[in-house]
Amino acid sequence: MPPQTRASGAKDTVASLRARLNRLEREAATRERQLERYAADLREVFKQERTRAQELRRSYKATVLALANAVEARDAYTGRHAQRVAAYGLRIAQAAGVDVDPQTEFGFVLHDVGKVAVADAILFKPGPLTHEERELMQRHPVIGSDILDHVDFLDEAKDVVRHHHERWDGAGYPDRLAGEDIPVAARVFAVADTLDALTTDRPYRPASELARAREVIHSLAGTQFDPSVVAAFDDVPDAELEAIRTGVQ
Ligand SMILES: [Fe+2]
Repeated sequence: MPPQTRASGAKDTVASLRARLNRLEREAATRERQLERYAADLREVFKQERTRAQELRRSYKATVLALANAVEARDAYTGRHAQRVAAYGLRIAQAAGVDVDPQTEFGFVLHDVGKVAVADAILFKPGPLTHEERELMQRHPVIGSDILDHVDFLDEAKDVVRHHHERWDGAGYPDRLAGEDIPVAARVFAVADTLDALTTDRPYRPASELARAREVIHSLAGTQFDPSVVAAFDDVPDAELEAIRTGVQ
């Protein structure tokens, strides 16, 4: 082959390789732009989903608080009790290394929802309750968990509602569960509930100082309360509990 023809053949090959390379680069760039568009679409979908989930959770929380406030509205002395006791419960759970999911937190807020079924004459009786009255009063955990029975998003909350008056020594109600048979969230909550009861003014007695409440709770470790939960409660600084009590958090 003459040298001129060989040179032109090589040029053609280079030109066709270059053309192929250009085409491949264009295709790669198109694919990259497509992938970027997919990624942007996915990010947008995730963002919308997150917003929707947050809105849903806010609605759930508002519904739960409305229900708890409806119960509390009957008893002016326990104003904000549900929110305070939920905050104590969360803090003590954190100190005890117990994971509290949002459903369980709803259980803290709704623990006494069953009191809607307790007559005013019993709920507000200034003197001690008779045996029959106490039995009616002690039905509130079961009534409460029955109320929540068909609410799917409150499934886990029922454990706290049903078992918040069980005792570590098995002498509580309604199921007389003992020790670790009592769901851990209910064991944590029992301490929070007593803390709030002791540090709140009642018609028949003034609020205790926090130091006194700590002594009382300590004296009940191993009988009414899970000792490890009481030990975790001891680790929560006074200032944090005071901030919850006074609503400054
Ligand atoms: Fe209760």
